[in-house]
Amino acid sequence: MRGIFITFEGIEGSGKSTLLYNVAAAMRRSGLDPLMTREPGGTSLGVALRKVLLDPDMEKIGPIAELMLFAADRAQHVSEVIQPALETGQIVLCDRFSDATVAYQGYGRGIPLDVITSVDEQARSFMVPDMTVLLDLPVETGLGRARTRNDELLNAAESRIDEEEAAFHQRVRDGYLTLASDEPHRFLILDAREKQERLSELAMEEFRMRFPDAF
Ligand SMILES: Nc1ncnc2c1ncn2[C@@H]1O[C@H](COP(=O)(O)OP(=O)(O)OP(=O)(O)O)[C@@H](O)[C@H]1O
Ligand SMILES: [Mg+2]
Repeated sequence: MRGIFITFEGIEGSGKSTLLYNVAAAMRRSGLDPLMTREPGGTSLGVALRKVLLDPDMEKIGPIAELMLFAADRAQHVSEVIQPALETGQIVLCDRFSDATVAYQGYGRGIPLDVITSVDEQARSFMVPDMTVLLDLPVETGLGRARTRNDELLNAAESRIDEEEAAFHQRVRDGYLTLASDEPHRFLILDAREKQERLSELAMEEFRMRFPDAF
């Protein structure tokens, strides 16, 4: 028995957490029991690493150090949370995974993609998501939404990446789109400017089509 591993990707403010929450609610209404998790932060090690990675007062973390911190988080998350859940047949909904590492550390920061891949393959134990939902939207729209949300939450502690320049986020967006065009069978690209309810419907329709036995 193996569950289904679905990841949610996109730039900041694209609506990953919102969509994940909404599809989890829709699944529960159909009697399913999905596991919601996120990176960084799905384990107690991950929570500690998340604080370090997103802390605006932290000294500038270099690209390789950052890659290794994300990899440490992922290795623990895969072995402690994701694999055990899939082995019991659960649906796992994960907010960011390996594509985020390739998009941010690779396309965004410029670490060679073969370096990323060799570190990341170990971190994820060669696991690949069954499906990845990419929420795509213009960088200004996403960052604008993320800023509004952060102001509302007074959550300055998580704003380090949000403050980086638009050019970086543009490379990340383009990187995600390249990944999606390299693996069209795995990705579902959604226009993140659609309404929340519509995005949830579109994602659920696709899940039902791709995994008819589970839904
Ligand atoms: N489809 C949508 N249309 C308009 N606003 C949205 C939509 N989805 C989410 N939002 C709003 O945009 C903001 C960012 O959404 P959310 O936190 O889900 O994004 P995220 O991709 O998880 O961001 P981050 O990468 O920073 O965690 C929130 O205030 C949310 O309410
Ligand atoms: Mg989020």
